[in-house]
Amino acid sequence: MGIQFDAEAARRVEALYQTPDVVAQRRETLKSLDLRQGERVLDIGSGPGLLAHEMAANVGPEGQVRGIDTSEDMLAMSRKRCAEQPQAAFESADATDLPYPDGSFDAAVSTQVYEYVPDIPAALAELYRVLRPGGRAVVVDTDYGSLVMHTENPGRMDRVLAAWDEHFVHGDLPRTLSPQLRDAGFTVRQCAVIPMFNPEYDSNTYSHGLIGIIASFVAGRNSVTRDEADAWAAEFAELGKQGKYFFSLNRYLFVADKPDAAKGA
Ligand SMILES: C[S@@+](CC[C@H](N)C(=O)[O-])C[C@H]1O[C@@H](n2cnc3c(N)ncnc32)[C@H](O)[C@@H]1O
Repeated sequence: MGIQFDAEAARRVEALYQTPDVVAQRRETLKSLDLRQGERVLDIGSGPGLLAHEMAANVGPEGQVRGIDTSEDMLAMSRKRCAEQPQAAFESADATDLPYPDGSFDAAVSTQVYEYVPDIPAALAELYRVLRPGGRAVVVDTDYGSLVMHTENPGRMDRVLAAWDEHFVHGDLPRTLSPQLRDAGFTVRQCAVIPMFNPEYDSNTYSHGLIGIIASFVAGRNSVTRDEADAWAAEFAELGKQGKYFFSLNRYLFVADKPDAAKGA
């Protein structure tokens, strides 16, 4: 079974997503979305609501932010975060079955969600359907094939990463996302890499938080014991002390437009 976004996972994701690495990703995402006052925007898999909160400020009280997620714990977190923003509302729904009429939104965004969704063509068809003609989508996902991490115990690292593979459905989605977006009817306008690059061991980084999430996920899977998972995580603190820590993992951002037949584009 993959990761369950329960209360504990929600708390970990919320902390991880407030590190400067992910704050920088949100800045890039918002820049690509280029929201204007009064626009209607959908956040698919809105999680802890950090992006929705910023988008609600960008579209203002005349605008509309809608967030959907399958996790009640995440929905509770996002509702609390946006409690003072009546333009933002959140509901329980799946990315492959969005509860909105065709053409409801000027923009839609989904960051770090589609890698957990088994049926990508169905999710992209829904993304396309709910956008108005001329609307835009921004999608961000990680390609775990880009992970570079120094270790002095490669055998243990391989076992831990093999167990971590169970955490997502598509660990390498970005490499096929452009053609899949085009198959869904989109024009892909931009594709950019967002590196999560931590050459030093520091508790206020993406990689520090991710190591904790991986260690807790892999313990008891794929013959990785709790002790082995803890030892795997402890190695990085030790490498950090020795000045030998190195972590790099790429996320990729796609900007895709729904053509507007009336404008010939
Ligand atoms: C890693 S979190 C990312 C949250 C948020 N998009 C962000 O970047 O801050 C992944 C989120 O996707 C949600 N999710 C997973 N599968 C989903 C699905 N099929 N439909 C909607 N949400 C889903 C999870 O519940 C979780 O909140």
